Amino acid sequence: MRTIAFVSESGGSGKSTIAASLAAAAHETGDKVCVIDMDPQGSLMNWSTIRASRDIGVIACGGARLPALLVSLEGMGVTLAILDVPGAEGEASTAAMRAADLNIAPSRPSLFDLRASARTRTALEEIGAYMTSCSCSISARLANRPPTSGTAPRRWPRGAN
Ligand SMILES: Nc1ncnc2c1ncn2[C@@H]1O[C@H](COP(=O)(O)OP(=O)(O)O)[C@@H](O)[C@H]1O
Ligand SMILES: [Mg+2]
Repeated sequence: MRTIAFVSESGGSGKSTIAASLAAAAHETGDKVCVIDMDPQGSLMNWSTIRASRDIGVIACGGARLPALLVSLEGMGVTLAILDVPGAEGEASTAAMRAADLNIAPSRPSLFDLRASARTRTALEEIGAYMTSCSCSISARLANRPPTSGTAPRRWPRGAN
């Protein structure tokens, strides 16, 4: 089972939106997907209710219960667990970062949002999960919502890494 976490300390960066999109796309291509909603805001629990379909499981879970839940999902044949994480540092985000094979930190390509996502990078570095190419635990940043007009930035602004 692969575990992908959407982590970013910046609220509104697109974690829940991309997590739901990835869940639907992976389901369509044959994965047995389970979404774990770790955010008390419950965006993906609401998404599940609105979809009214049980093809993609969505479970609410806090940080303390996460490791046991992942073990049990793997035992049930889930092939992809997607973690939607609150936009604030805490037990849930730390547990998710540690458990994930891949951490993805979406960010809008604006200076303020990129600066906020630098804190996420620091948190990932502290648990040894940032861009460690020789480990199975890696992290990535994803530019979300590029400008609809004008020229989209081609690279991260200097100092935002
Ligand atoms: N690529 C996108 N294009 C347009 N709207 C987006 C995109 N990604 C996110 N949004 C919108 O931005 C808002 C915040 O997204 P959300 O996924 O809830 O962020 P987060 O989970 O990081 O707080 C929502 O209204 C969502 O519909
Ligand atoms: Mg969210």
